[in-house]
Amino acid sequence: MRLVLVGPPGAGKGTQAEFVAAHLAVPKISTGDIFRSNVRGGTPLGIEAKRYMDDGKLVPDEVTINMVRGRLAEADALDGFLLDGFPRTVPQAQELDKMLADMGTQLDVVLELVVDEDEVIRRLAGRRNCRGCDKIWHMEFDPPTREGVCDRCGGQLYQRDDDKPETILNRLREYAEKTAPLIDYYGAQNKLVGIDATGLVEDITVRAIDALRSYGG
Ligand code: AP5
Ligand code: MG
Repeated sequence: MRLVLVGPPGAGKGTQAEFVAAHLAVPKISTGDIFRSNVRGGTPLGIEAKRYMDDGKLVPDEVTINMVRGRLAEADALDGFLLDGFPRTVPQAQELDKMLADMGTQLDVVLELVVDEDEVIRRLAGRRNCRGCDKIWHMEFDPPTREGVCDRCGGQLYQRDDDKPETILNRLREYAEKTAPLIDYYGAQNKLVGIDATGLVEDITVRAIDALRSYGG
């Protein structure tokens, strides 16, 4: 299955991506994770992306599209994938449609995680990520047993640089302006399915898997 997850910052895309991709047996491709790993590695791509990420702005389309084109050509993505955080603009969506058409295929479905703004602000403000295995935690909603330490791998937890209050507001503004139009774009292609993404993480996963069933998932 070829699937895109869309939703505002903090909607739970990364959290759900892990479970849904495992269920579908497809690779999870998160553009945010790829940028952050390049930032950590100090690569030219990371140095460029960081300038935008730290302000809560989107990385330019050209840079992002080229990166995704390379990733989708890798062997593990040829039979299916779950994209988390891409596309994020209408030009990115148009390029993705073209890339897939060139490969003789197309997207099956776009899953929208619907959460209101107050909830995403609460989620982002308390988020912690693991330096070791990238697992996503929340200080209140999903805390590790020992503060600051990942239960899964023992790694150290950190707060993302872009989870500061002023940057969160910029990211929400970018979403409303540049990403929300994708809802209409994919609605017009009859590929959009929305689910309520509030409540327990495991209940949302069940809702997601149910919603994907009628698209072949
Ligand atoms: P990216 O990393 O994609 O960030 P984002 O879209 O802002 O989304 P987040 O990762 O913040 O949220 P999420 O929906 O994954 O939520 P999560 O599961 O972590 O992008 C970062 C930056 O990279 C962008 O700003 C941009 O600069 C650049 N970038 C990336 N892609 C790009 C693109 N395509 N084009 C241009 N630039 C791009 O959950 C959040 C918190 O909530 C966690 O603490 C979690 O534990 C908690 N939580 C999850 N589910 C629940 C629940 N059900 N109940 C309670 N808490 C929950
Ligand atoms: Mg994420």
